[in-house]
Amino acid sequence: MSAPRAIIITGASSGIGAALAVHYAAPGVALGLLGRDAARLEAVASAVRGRGAVVETGRVDMREAEAVAGWIARFDAAHPVDLLIANAGVLEGRDEDGRIEDYEVAARVIGINLLGSLAALHAVLPSMRARGCGQIALVSSLAAFSPLTDAPAYGASKAGLLSYGLAMRAALEGTGVGVSVVCPGYVASAMTETHIGEQPMKLSAAAAARLIATGLARGRAVIGFPRALYIGSLISSVIPERLRLYFTRSMRFHVATRRSGDDGAP
Ligand SMILES: NC(=O)c1ccc[n+]([C@@H]2O[C@H](COP(=O)([O-])OP(=O)(O)OC[C@H]3O[C@@H](n4cnc5c(N)ncnc54)[C@H](OP(=O)(O)O)[C@@H]3O)[C@@H](O)[C@H]2O)c1
Repeated sequence: MSAPRAIIITGASSGIGAALAVHYAAPGVALGLLGRDAARLEAVASAVRGRGAVVETGRVDMREAEAVAGWIARFDAAHPVDLLIANAGVLEGRDEDGRIEDYEVAARVIGINLLGSLAALHAVLPSMRARGCGQIALVSSLAAFSPLTDAPAYGASKAGLLSYGLAMRAALEGTGVGVSVVCPGYVASAMTETHIGEQPMKLSAAAAARLIATGLARGRAVIGFPRALYIGSLISSVIPERLRLYFTRSMRFHVATRRSGDDGAP
């Protein structure tokens, strides 16, 4: 697969999305970076420009599907997109006081993580299909394979992305448009700062970006890492519930209040 020249990354203002933007930045590459926080988005854009890429930024909430579609259509008209990485996401779940999530939280998490990613996918898909080429990456999680006791909607959103992405990959076979699902383990980011609990085999965002880019270049269906946790997650999805809960008991966590600047608001 040839190196992508026009790339849109959602959730590019922080963590894995920012690291992916820097990873792909090079002369001759156009990057469309989406996020909400203007200052952080501009800092990433400036790093990317410094590496010789052309950058356009957009402040869009992924829950606003029309705004997402409009921004993507405008970028695609100027720079026919060959890679979309739908990466924006939030983690919410059990709080410091042990309260489990309510409907409002669950709807917000599903709205951003699952529906927001599908809004981006369907915004770019028609023109990719018309051109007969393109690649779409949905950033899911190893949580897709095993229900998360402390963040049910987060796990459900990621399981939804895995299922949707693999179904779309099969449905689009032969069209020239490929779909991959990215399933990271723990990666250092603002998100994992709010995850209060064990984080075995944690990777840097830059290392995660390299693994994701390698998997995408190979057109992998599922890009799961680190390998040992990926295998553990696959096994946990097929063992009896009691064994799964026993083996994952050390991984229980709660979610701290988000960093300042992140409202987490509806
Ligand atoms: N870190 C991990 O260990 C890990 C593991 C597995 C999967 N993942 C997945 O990787 C992706 C990136 O996570 P990260 O760890 O890099 O987290 P992060 O540093 O918190 O970055 C999250 C990104 O998503 C954007 N975002 C959040 N809500 C949004 C909304 N409503 N509209 C538009 N953009 C929104 C944020 O933009 P603003 O801040 O500008 O709003 C930010 O750019 C997520 O989908 C996450 O679930 C992460």
